[in-house]
Amino acid sequence: MTAVAENTRADAGTQTDDAPGAVASFEVTLKIRRYNPESEHGENVIWDEFTVQAHGTDRVLDALHKIKWEQDGSLTFRRSCAHGICGSDAMRINGRNRLACKTLLKDVNPDKPITVEPIKGLPVVKDLVVDMEPFFASYREIMPFLITSGNEPSRERIQSQADRDRFDDTTKCILCAACTSSCPVFWTDGQYFGPAAIVNAHRFIFDSRDEGAQQRLEILNDKEGVWRCRTTFNCTEACPRGIQVTKAIQEVKRAMITRAF
Ligand code: SF4
Ligand code: F3S
Ligand code: FES
Repeated sequence: MTAVAENTRADAGTQTDDAPGAVASFEVTLKIRRYNPESEHGENVIWDEFTVQAHGTDRVLDALHKIKWEQDGSLTFRRSCAHGICGSDAMRINGRNRLACKTLLKDVNPDKPITVEPIKGLPVVKDLVVDMEPFFASYREIMPFLITSGNEPSRERIQSQADRDRFDDTTKCILCAACTSSCPVFWTDGQYFGPAAIVNAHRFIFDSRDEGAQQRLEILNDKEGVWRCRTTFNCTEACPRGIQVTKAIQEVKRAMITRAF
């Protein structure tokens, strides 16, 4: 059952007069989907609204911190680095997957309540925290490590700049799951490997030092593998690292065909 709890509803986006010289601040309201697996009232899911005072460069993560520290300590979300590196705070903000620490409030229409929900397609544990295990299970399956044979070399494995450039884009992944959890194919049953696993397979398949490409291509040739991708591009739009996710998937598909699958 869904209910709206009107906590401190105020005019979102209202500009306020600060002290002379201070950075202008404004009120912003966040409408947050809450899930409490142990609710005593039988209402496991509610929408809660909170209004906070924000400044021009505040991000959604800053607003979430203010709510947690000043209004409701039970609000639950993940974050670690707060600088777009660890990948732990992907969430749906105004219906789009984004990192809360990379999303400025002023860029998501603070004149209206900003909706914040957990990413889709993964089981919700509490509020904005989802169980990432199914996501990481797919990641582990594609063997995200260098596979080599023979004796260890006595010096580094040499690679030309052109060879390194071949997979540069897919090295940028921070495993935030924004792509996989924005993919309609993944939403249908959660069985599809998902774009993040394919991106990380791509990173090794096209690495000239790696010898496990054939194994990875066989794994992704599975009925839940790359062929389930319908080229929807949601993943590319969602990626906070700007990775050309759909292009990487297409390259893996082509590698399968040219390597005689
Ligand atoms: Fe996140 Fe982009 Fe990696 Fe997907 S490809 S997990 S969106 S960084
Ligand atoms: Fe899904 Fe991205 Fe393909 S959104 S369908 S993996 S292009
Ligand atoms: Fe680390 Fe946002 S908190 S990426």
